[in-house]
Amino acid sequence: MSTAAMPEFPAGFRWGVSTSAYQIEGGVDENGRGASIWDTFAHSPGRIADGSTGDVACDHYHRHAEDVALLAGLGVSAYRFSIAWPRVRPTGDGPVDPRGLDFYDRLVDDLLAHGVDPVATLFHWDLPQALEDAGGWLNRDTAHRFAEYADATAARLGDRVKLWITLNEPFIHMSLGHGTGEHAPGRTLLFDAFPVAHHQLLGHGLAVAALRARTTSPVAIANNYSPVRAAGDGAADRAAAAAYEALHNRLFTDPLFGRGYPARLGFDTSAVHAGDLDVIAAPIDVLGVNYYNPTGVRAPREGSPLPFEFVPLDGYPRTAFDWPVAPDGLHELLGWLHRTYADDLPPIQITESGCAYDDAPDADGRVHDPQRIAYLDGHLRAVRAAMAEGVDVTGYFVWSLLDNWEWAEGFTKRFGLVHVDFDTQLRTPKSSYAWLRDLIARP
Ligand code: NOJ
Repeated sequence: MSTAAMPEFPAGFRWGVSTSAYQIEGGVDENGRGASIWDTFAHSPGRIADGSTGDVACDHYHRHAEDVALLAGLGVSAYRFSIAWPRVRPTGDGPVDPRGLDFYDRLVDDLLAHGVDPVATLFHWDLPQALEDAGGWLNRDTAHRFAEYADATAARLGDRVKLWITLNEPFIHMSLGHGTGEHAPGRTLLFDAFPVAHHQLLGHGLAVAALRARTTSPVAIANNYSPVRAAGDGAADRAAAAAYEALHNRLFTDPLFGRGYPARLGFDTSAVHAGDLDVIAAPIDVLGVNYYNPTGVRAPREGSPLPFEFVPLDGYPRTAFDWPVAPDGLHELLGWLHRTYADDLPPIQITESGCAYDDAPDADGRVHDPQRIAYLDGHLRAVRAAMAEGVDVTGYFVWSLLDNWEWAEGFTKRFGLVHVDFDTQLRTPKSSYAWLRDLIARP
């Protein structure tokens, strides 16, 4: 970790932390909530590493006041949470349940009372199961159901949410949820999952219009990006890297900025109807960037169904997820977005950045996580360096406030600034929480 002082960030820079509904809330049967695809998936044997579910998770549904106090103590100016679609509209296309929105209404008021800007994500992967039963994101109708849900949510919260995020990581929801089946709903369509990309983006565009009609707050999408590094200089490795870059970094971004879908992937685009690309290219105010690590790629072996193959990147420390710790990748990525999308690119906020380590309380009950401090220090310096080079970055959200339920990994990966004992629900701020608090509070 650098011993030089952390460079200053401009006044008004947004400091935040992020969470998502299914990963923290629990309360899955309360106040009319419908089932989501993650309830179904987590309850299917063999899907989750430790056999756990999000039925209780961090019990945030009942402990939200304690969690808002933790946010206030941290001194963040914003909190990014997600709204559970199946709480708001339990069957996806039936009536809105006001009790679902009551929970977020109270949360939003409590955040504002503590001086924390509410930043709401509408879709963080918990699709109502009833919509999945009708084809899910493979069905074009789901895009319209999403816009209706956005409208109902903004009708209630639009006067107080300070930034709306339509979708979280639609690439991961397409690729792991519908391509390889590691995430809900567990489909294994590989490249035939393309309609899931298109219908999510169409839903995004329709939701932007719905939000604009209800609120003057800025609107964003949170995409995840990974700088792609070819294993070798040969043409085959470089072509594989370009293909993966198109899939991971461009597929969900080129259409936002009026550039259509990257042709090199050769998708069957018959799901794209006339006018859809204009809907998708509705202007957004902020690009949310989730960044974790770069990806090494080489040419695929003969007979591979994919045009690339992953290779480990050497020379980096690793997190408990075995992901390389590479702040240089964030610096590179921000420069790439700035150059590639140029004048079309709105200000960027880093909507997720963080790391998992096997943090545990010591004999005194304290949790020391120097690796997370080093991680955040490095990534914040990378952001600041990109800003000094002209990239407009206006905020940084750490993933995550709390250790939580990490999807297919269950409770085995701890990303929090706050340790959670999942047996007792005891919250213990880690040393990284104190480090970030002191950084934010710098005069
Ligand atoms: C991205 C996802 O948005 C979030 O839900 C997840 O927990 C983190 N990455 C860490 O894997």
